Amino acid sequence: METYKTISSLKQAINNKKAAGKTIGFVPTMGALHAGHISLIDESKKQTDVTVVSIFVNPTQFNDSKDLENYPRTIKSDIQKLENVKADILFLPDVKEIYPEPDTRQFDFGKLDKVMEGRFRKGHFNGVAQVVSKLFDIVEPNKAFFGQKDFQQYVIIKTLASKYMAEYNIDIVRCPIIREKDGLAMSSRNLLLLDEQRKNANVIYKTLKKAKENYSGKSVEEIKKFVIEEINKNPFLEVEYFSIVDDVNLEEIKEMTEEKNKVGCIAVYCGKIRLIDNIYFD
Ligand code: PAJ
Repeated sequence: METYKTISSLKQAINNKKAAGKTIGFVPTMGALHAGHISLIDESKKQTDVTVVSIFVNPTQFNDSKDLENYPRTIKSDIQKLENVKADILFLPDVKEIYPEPDTRQFDFGKLDKVMEGRFRKGHFNGVAQVVSKLFDIVEPNKAFFGQKDFQQYVIIKTLASKYMAEYNIDIVRCPIIREKDGLAMSSRNLLLLDEQRKNANVIYKTLKKAKENYSGKSVEEIKKFVIEEINKNPFLEVEYFSIVDDVNLEEIKEMTEEKNKVGCIAVYCGKIRLIDNIYFD
């Protein structure tokens, strides 16, 4: 694997590949890599010739400085995992390389970044858009791969690509959620859970699945009540929000029809650790 820490050296390497007629796949990450990240790299390797992975813990998307400080950093084992999966290029910049000056750009995503995560993590998606737009500018990939785990992020990145970066024509590919054996969605933050918390965290997905299996004939309000009450019954868990939204415009669903456009999105505190998950009602 080739590793680059500067924008200029990375660009040169990518330009050489492009000149040789190769297509470029891009997987942006913040490291602490797990099987969810690896699944995106596998998909990129299937769909493109050269896979570029970035590891950069982006300070502008953290609305809580403690969260940024505590974010797991496991660079040695990350590099080993990337070697094992045969990623082609790793981009590993430091903060000065990405933000030589403070980034003051404000993106307009309409309602998309105001609901759900946007309500509880002010400025988060603007920070994500800042870093991803810079990375897209540097890498100019043919395809970029994002996990459904962060469903709202995926919808916003699609809008970023079509509204702000249309000239690059980047295909934004959504990849399925990879879960632990007990159903908990894989997340770098799972490393921060204490044993007892970790054992109880699987109640989130179990409950979403139950709600999905039994939704027919129920109203949106009944499903929401069930999910929130069932999870809050567990002494280790506290729901921050649960919304059932349209998978394109993220507006709240009013009625549970057969149409396959409904995603139930949830954020739950497990102690101090905030976990998110989602499920399609189809
Ligand atoms: P990070 O949380 O490291 O996630 C990187 C990518 O991996 C995202 O597209 C995320 O949705 C995906 N991912 C995480 N857990 C997953 C799982 N269990 N199954 C499938 N995919 C999963 O998301 C970010 O970083 C940052 O916001 C970033 C886009 C890199 C911008 O800083």
